[in-house]
Amino acid sequence: MKQFVSDKVHDQPIVDMVFEASQGAQRAISKDGAGKVVNGAFGAFFTDGGELLTFDSVYRTFDAIPDVDKARYAASISGAPEFKRGVKQWLFTDAGVELDAEVVATPGGTGALSSTVKNVLAPGEIVVHPDIGWGPYKTIARQHQIGIEHYTLFDGQRFNLDSFQDTCRRVMKRQGKLLVFVNDPCQNPTGYTLEEDEWDRMLEILETISSQGPVVLLLDIAYIDFTHLGMAYRRRFEKLKHLGENLLTVIAFSASKTMTAYGMRVGAQVIISNNEEGRRQFKNACENTCRGIWSTVNNGGMRAFGELSLDAELKAAYTEEKRIYLKLLKDRASRFTSEADAVGLPIYPYKEGFFITLRIDDADIKNALYERLMARNIFFVNVYGGLRIAICSIPTEKLDGLARKVKETLEEIESEQQS
Ligand SMILES: Cc1ncc(COP(=O)(O)O)c(C=O)c1O
Repeated sequence: MKQFVSDKVHDQPIVDMVFEASQGAQRAISKDGAGKVVNGAFGAFFTDGGELLTFDSVYRTFDAIPDVDKARYAASISGAPEFKRGVKQWLFTDAGVELDAEVVATPGGTGALSSTVKNVLAPGEIVVHPDIGWGPYKTIARQHQIGIEHYTLFDGQRFNLDSFQDTCRRVMKRQGKLLVFVNDPCQNPTGYTLEEDEWDRMLEILETISSQGPVVLLLDIAYIDFTHLGMAYRRRFEKLKHLGENLLTVIAFSASKTMTAYGMRVGAQVIISNNEEGRRQFKNACENTCRGIWSTVNNGGMRAFGELSLDAELKAAYTEEKRIYLKLLKDRASRFTSEADAVGLPIYPYKEGFFITLRIDDADIKNALYERLMARNIFFVNVYGGLRIAICSIPTEKLDGLARKVKETLEEIESEQQS
């Protein structure tokens, strides 16, 4: 018998590990008070006072936008013109990078990821992801009836280039084309950032594979504004313009973290390729997706980002404000990592950004630790290969003693399992 839903859709209740852990934390806060709870579940930046961080430079710019501009549709399906110029200025021009790119506005980085998967692969084909990655990547693939192959993210303390190469080669051999996701810098959930030589080698690998068929590299840069490499990281983009004609890069830009504007739903696909016809075709496909799925993106949000990016004074105010919070994040990270080191709590190689992930290879131990910590009012997110700690949302003082507590709980579980 037919159902209301199509037999092609994914109709099971959504399991989102972040929202699950966050709800648990909220219940604990209602019961025991915020002071007694460590809420390391949610991937948004909170101040040490426990407030969601909102940059003044962003929200005063947004406030100054006339109501009629907030109310109207964007001037074009692919985004407000000043937004598109602003994205290129932000990512390339400010860093001295000259790069010819098309910009298509999307609802957040998520819109950019989803439209790319939809427009590169046909149902039944395969996308390549890191094994330790952002949970919704899977949901996005499923939305488009796309399968997944994983590369192993790490080899010891370094990016696993061999696994990246083998997985990409295998998928190219099987389907004659490749779409691969790389989330960098400040990777979610581990906080790793590729070294420049790893970045270069990754591009070389894809260049070689592209002799066998079209390759699309999806660079998910959701946390780019929180790398300590600053403009030096953006200068890596210069290398994208030397790639061959069988390669197309989509940079998935998100204003959510950049502007502390998660709910504004502003992002973009930034499309780069030396294959002009291929780039034009892909851009057309993405514009059709805009029109057919969400229409245009929040005009007020796009206008605010455009102004922030194109007005030197506003940008200077933003940069100064962000500097303070980058330092705060760094302080939080070093408190946790130095204590983790001292007590021998294993973590994946962390360099910077919103998250640190505990490394726990045994899934039973990991699940038991997740549950036991929740019972002790400590909330992390259960991810593949470990537990993600959102240091972006934990006030600095609550990080003192946290690694020790986690280590003691882990030892307790390990000794119970042995006896
Ligand atoms: C790795 C990664 N990519 C993309 C996104 C997309 O965010 P948004 O759709 O809010 O821009 C996020 C948000 O958490 C993320 O962590």
